[in-house]
Amino acid sequence: MARKIVITSGKGGVGKTTVTANLGMYLSALGARVALIDIDFGLNNLDVVMGIENRVVYDISDVLEGRCRVKQALVQDNGHKNLYVLPSDNMKTSTSMTGQSLKIVVEKLSPLFDYLLLDCPAGVDAGFHRAVSCADEALLVTTPCFSSLRDADKVVSILKSYQLESVSLVVNRVRGDLVLGEKILSPKDIESLLKIPLIGVLPDEDDVILRGAGFPPMSRIGKAFRILADNVDKKTFRIYDATARYSGFLGQIKRGLRRSV
Ligand SMILES: Nc1ncnc2c1ncn2[C@@H]1O[C@H](COP(=O)(O)OP(=O)(O)OP(=O)(O)O)[C@@H](O)[C@H]1O
Ligand SMILES: [Mg+2]
Repeated sequence: MARKIVITSGKGGVGKTTVTANLGMYLSALGARVALIDIDFGLNNLDVVMGIENRVVYDISDVLEGRCRVKQALVQDNGHKNLYVLPSDNMKTSTSMTGQSLKIVVEKLSPLFDYLLLDCPAGVDAGFHRAVSCADEALLVTTPCFSSLRDADKVVSILKSYQLESVSLVVNRVRGDLVLGEKILSPKDIESLLKIPLIGVLPDEDDVILRGAGFPPMSRIGKAFRILADNVDKKTFRIYDATARYSGFLGQIKRGLRRSV
């Protein structure tokens, strides 16, 4: 049976879809069979980030309304043969999208995969609850900015009302130079504030905006995602150090240069 992990945040635009896509790629590179399920009905973009949007024939609403079987709606990733996407649809708003019907779809996929990653919509309304009720574990994504942290704090309390096996923290868009300059909270400070274990730190990188997913494994963001995938898979808590490149003599010069551009 698959581990079912919801990627959630509260605040929109903090990197849930980016984490879902890249965590899925790195878990499948470890040999796991992974399905990414887009539960962001209406404002879905997991298919675009994964580069499979032109190969979508059926989507999750077709599955829920009985127009196809769940296996027919899965789209295989271009580069990873163990990785599939169950896309959502941005046009239809299905009346059959209840938490219960979604759970049935997730349970059908469970024996076929090692991981089901659920890309949750922003906010804490029905879509959020539908997604969380299908999962056993949650990854809470936040950025170091205050509005994102406040929403994350609210989501932590809501998640407590679910019987989840674990809720872990991913701090995204970390600027090592700003952490060292004490301009933003460090991921460890955020961990203490939110009181959930820190499982991933992802640096702020232009490459994410330019490519979305599929970074070279030796790039900074690639390394950070590899560590996150390893932690999720082995249930460890090794942390990527986003400040390393700004430490020491050369690092101080880089910090100075980054401040002046
Ligand atoms: N580590 C990062 N460095 C730089 N840009 C990032 C990083 N993570 C995400 N982004 C950018 O932030 C934007 C929002 O990311 P994403 O779509 O993954 O967020 P989301 O939480 O899924 O949003 P929504 O709530 O709308 O579903 C995208 O343009 C993405 O490229
Ligand atoms: Mg998203």
